[in-house]
Amino acid sequence: MKVLFIGDIFGKPGRNLVSSHLPAIRSRFDFVIANAENAAGGFGLNKDSFSSIVKAGVDCVTLGNHAWDNREVLSLIDDPKIVRPKNYPSGAPGRGAASFDVNGERITVTNFLGRIFMNPLDDPFAALEEILEQDNLGAVFVDFHAEATSEKACFAWHFDGRIAALIGTHTHVPTADTRFLTRGTAFQTDSGMTGPQDSSIGMGLDAAIYKFRTGLPQKNEVAQGPSIFNAVELDLTGNLVTRMARYSFLEGQESGKLEGEIFQGVNDAK
Ligand SMILES: [Fe+2]
Ligand SMILES: [Fe+2]
Repeated sequence: MKVLFIGDIFGKPGRNLVSSHLPAIRSRFDFVIANAENAAGGFGLNKDSFSSIVKAGVDCVTLGNHAWDNREVLSLIDDPKIVRPKNYPSGAPGRGAASFDVNGERITVTNFLGRIFMNPLDDPFAALEEILEQDNLGAVFVDFHAEATSEKACFAWHFDGRIAALIGTHTHVPTADTRFLTRGTAFQTDSGMTGPQDSSIGMGLDAAIYKFRTGLPQKNEVAQGPSIFNAVELDLTGNLVTRMARYSFLEGQESGKLEGEIFQGVNDAK
């Protein structure tokens, strides 16, 4: 199963790039996952942004700390395509994991929030353990939405060999550590975002710089200009990723580029 994971789709520029670029490469993949916590103007997910992302070819949407920012998400959250962070307190609407059957193979998509420099939440380690106790998960994909690289690394290493892949989100900056861990889990600390490149992680630079320089509040607006499409490709054989690569495409260029491409033929986990 060939899977594409698209990092945090940011605002209208990010959505537009997904709509224009994903259909051009969609046939290379069997299943497409995208983090859409910033899809609606940078804050959360609304009906129009969700439908445009699905229409472009995304099969499953994950969220993050901005999950509840747009109230319209409450009318969408029970859609079987949406997975929100599992470790919200019990009683939160929606689901933290969803399984999909794709051409006779199975993938379970999960989403967790970190707790370092983030709002306090339930223990993500215990939340993933709870999911892994279930049967018939197939390949487990984890979107770990967290700020601290150390927390992301420790989460990935703790579950190495028990999950197919862990790709981090939230920082909006792709990391160059694409690799297989020793027991076979595919890992990258952060996928980067899909949104305006000349920006403060998606927001306009003038207001962001003013805030840093003065400490005064300033309204954030989604930045303009060409967007970057940041994603990770994962080729699965059964529950093991046998190839992974970072994929990026800058709006206006003729084609995307692959970096950090890694192949592995053996699963050392079993
Ligand atoms: Fe984000
Ligand atoms: Fe986030």
